[in-house]
Amino acid sequence: MSKKLFIRTYGCQMNVYDSARMADVLAPLGYAPAQGPEDADLVILNTCHIREKASEKVYSELGRLRETKQERPGMLVAVAGCTAQAEGAEIVRRMPFVDVVVGPQAYHRLPELVARATRAGGAALDTDFPVESKFDHLPLVATPAGPSAFLTIQEGCDKFCTFCVVPYTRGAEFSRPAADIEREARMLVEGGAREITLLGQNVNAWHGAGEDGAAIGLGALARRLARIEGLARLRYTTSHPRDVDDALVAAHAEEPKLMPYLHLPVQSGADRVLEAMNRGHRAEDYLRIVERLRRARPDLALSSDFIVGFPGETEAEFEATLDLVRAVGFAGAFSFKFSARPGTPAAALSGQVAEEARDERLQRLQALLRDQAEAFNREVLGRVVPVLVEKPGRHPGQVVGRSPWLQSVHCHAPGAAIGETIDVRLLRLGPNSIAGEVAAPASGEAA
Ligand code: SAH
Ligand code: SF4
Ligand code: F3S
Repeated sequence: MSKKLFIRTYGCQMNVYDSARMADVLAPLGYAPAQGPEDADLVILNTCHIREKASEKVYSELGRLRETKQERPGMLVAVAGCTAQAEGAEIVRRMPFVDVVVGPQAYHRLPELVARATRAGGAALDTDFPVESKFDHLPLVATPAGPSAFLTIQEGCDKFCTFCVVPYTRGAEFSRPAADIEREARMLVEGGAREITLLGQNVNAWHGAGEDGAAIGLGALARRLARIEGLARLRYTTSHPRDVDDALVAAHAEEPKLMPYLHLPVQSGADRVLEAMNRGHRAEDYLRIVERLRRARPDLALSSDFIVGFPGETEAEFEATLDLVRAVGFAGAFSFKFSARPGTPAAALSGQVAEEARDERLQRLQALLRDQAEAFNREVLGRVVPVLVEKPGRHPGQVVGRSPWLQSVHCHAPGAAIGETIDVRLLRLGPNSIAGEVAAPASGEAA
């Protein structure tokens, strides 16, 4: 019997990847995609727990689903993701109509959980960190949604930054075997992917064995995947400064498919704050890493994550963050006010910074980062760059794609196919996208 599934995804790209895998594992049970919760037999909320606001969203969405379920009692509601892992019991207590709660490492058990909820009524809860890897038990369907695909190669985190819930919600660091990753990457490319973004909470902590059995890291893995014919671009996210090794830097110098854009979170520019965050490096170390990377790949653009108002952060320490931003020059960034998360060491620290100070610092930091992003986008105007065409634009004949630096670009290119890389001259900055014109029919970038 055909049933309908709707998945709402919050949080990071790893959740986006997981949502696709959950749909894969449920497809053999007859679940096809629904338009929205209204016409779904099963609704999954794939949740995020990273900041207070993120997990509050879960409860307000559940409040709405409770009403939908009153009208259609047969509908099943499942909560997956990081809030499910962190607050499974609490969710069931506050929202007793929830049928399934499943943590990020137990998605391969979804069919059984859904069956149990259908049979028995009452919530089926699974927030174990199973000994078996979900990757070995999830079907490998790997149908990319478009030319740009995600592939999770590493999960979990052992770094325990004092502000962060991820080590608790995703569990210990785990690297998938290189051969499995390559197999999945080949399937994605066969299915039409031209760009693959390798995902992990600490993606550059990935380690495994090479074809000769020797220990390798992300640099060698990237080179191996770059050999896949038909794959034009490789990216990876999110990296930790502590795990940028020489082999990875060298891969940026020598592997043209590795795109010159790197998300490398630094969080703060003040050494005392970095220490209290347990980041394991100083501001100076970060600057040296950026230098090494830029020496290897001079056109490398960087983005980062920042937290303002970490407990005890003084005005001078906040200004050290602004100094670091000025020293690096970022092409993009995400910045957040510190959010005290239950169970993390930083939540219990004295010297919590007042809300007004956090607001004010965030605004100042974001103004600087906005200026830098705009300056970066301005710099590319007039140049011809390879654009990977991802989808049709709003107007007839128009296409939308991305530059090597992740900039969204639109241009009139009626002959261009989705998944093709075309050379585009960048002309004008728009609010969300750069307008360009086709410079040549084919690109120099390998495809
Ligand atoms: N693994 C990545 C980050 C994953 S979380 C890394 O190590 O950099 C994504 C971002 O959310 C973090 O980089 C941080 O800037 C932000 N973040 C995490 N916990 C937070 C908290 N408690 N309050 C505010 N921002 C937080
Ligand atoms: Fe969280 Fe730190 Fe691990 Fe990143 S490295 S996921 S910020 S604990
Ligand atoms: Fe959120 Fe979990 Fe990702 S907390 S950011 S969904 S790893």
